[in-house]
Amino acid sequence: MKISVIGCGYLGAVHAASMAEIGHTVVGVDVDEEKIALLAAGKAPFVEPEFDEMLARNVEAGRLTFTTDFSQVSDAQVHFIGVGTPQGPDGSADMTYVNAALDSLLPHMGQADGPSIVVGKSTVPVGTADSIEQRVVDAGAILIWNPEFLRESFAVQDTLRPDRLVYGVSKDAERAEVSQRILDEVYATILELDTPRLIMDFPTAELVKVSANSFLAMKISYINAMAEICDATGADVTMLAEAIGLDDRIGKKFLRAGIGYGGGCLPKDTRAFQARTEQLGLNSLDFMSDINAINDRRRKHAADLAIEALGGDVTGKRIALLGAAFKPNTDDMRNSPSIDIAKMLRDAGADIVITDPAAGPVLKVRRPDVPVADTAHEAIKGAEATLLLTEWDEFKNLDPTTLEPAGKIVIDGRNSLDPDTWKNAGWTYYGMGRN
Ligand code: UGA
Repeated sequence: MKISVIGCGYLGAVHAASMAEIGHTVVGVDVDEEKIALLAAGKAPFVEPEFDEMLARNVEAGRLTFTTDFSQVSDAQVHFIGVGTPQGPDGSADMTYVNAALDSLLPHMGQADGPSIVVGKSTVPVGTADSIEQRVVDAGAILIWNPEFLRESFAVQDTLRPDRLVYGVSKDAERAEVSQRILDEVYATILELDTPRLIMDFPTAELVKVSANSFLAMKISYINAMAEICDATGADVTMLAEAIGLDDRIGKKFLRAGIGYGGGCLPKDTRAFQARTEQLGLNSLDFMSDINAINDRRRKHAADLAIEALGGDVTGKRIALLGAAFKPNTDDMRNSPSIDIAKMLRDAGADIVITDPAAGPVLKVRRPDVPVADTAHEAIKGAEATLLLTEWDEFKNLDPTTLEPAGKIVIDGRNSLDPDTWKNAGWTYYGMGRN
């Protein structure tokens, strides 16, 4: 089947390559010429495990092409919309790219054999699909909403082996039936794996996405609130999380306390969801302000802890920051807690140095004013304090006896180090809700 994917960021590029991997002929479209040139050459514009090889393999096989020219999509039967919905000034989702994608796509559809479908994957405010359906129908296609749940750093796995597929379908029974049948064909190999597939209306499908992300954010902020209480009472949040997580109604996942969530999704989506409910005249998500406030506090807490551990004044003191990406195995620094903490420490006068195996090289290009070390050993050499901010394996596995700091203070922002190993090597260890 010929497929187009509009928007070649994390979501779109991975989706395009994954669809080619399962045998479709795919054209990826984006307005960013530089990104398209890289992708067309089979080169990944970002760090994502398994993606590089899959991209190169499918480009080479001729099943996957990339272009900035929308006329190339005209004979595709399926058009995925995977453009970004960034944060608007009032917290709500900015729909400029979704609207622009539709404006560019709709006039070019219609040369496929059989009916065409437009598949919404972008994270949008509830009500979007209903509001754009008629435009899609007028252009001769059928709209279906199919939210994406991939996690960065597991993007390929999550696309090819998702834990569920959600289809939001039209109220019109015939459109619903046709669009569902075509999307089933697209995902045939995934459905063969007994992947649960849930069919629902447009608003429910849109809500599944944002409510899942808000719930995940809530879990993280909940355990971080517990970390604050543990700090005040001498309790240990990692033991607490393990014990409550064994209750399978609660579950162990997303209960890692630390410096909180970052990235291009959770912070943005929770705010946009809250803004949307306010537009609807509801205060149902007022508690999300607390969830986000707890999250923001974690960053400040880590910076304050470093300042306090160094005697209240960090002016001119070298501080090593291990990690810049918002989580390991990616170079993505969007809304990264580490970057915020780096800024806070720098503003307080510290002489910071950052290291990150994937985001470090990007930081060197984008921010030549920020000192970036190639390795943790290099960053820590001569540092008066060390903060672990992204839990890359190579940081977790550091042997503290091999390091040459000026001061043996370590702040474990992700509770990823073994406190005894560091304490036995003479370091003063500070965890997040555990000591
Ligand atoms: C998130 C969701 O997990 C995906 O299901 C969703 O598809 C995606 O957003 C999206 O909307 O596109 P992602 O942003 O890649 O995926 O990252 P997560 O793995 O959810 O991690 C988010 C942040 O939470 C990271 O900064 C991570 O370090 C932090 N986190 C995660 C914690 O602080 N504690 C935890 O226990 C888990």
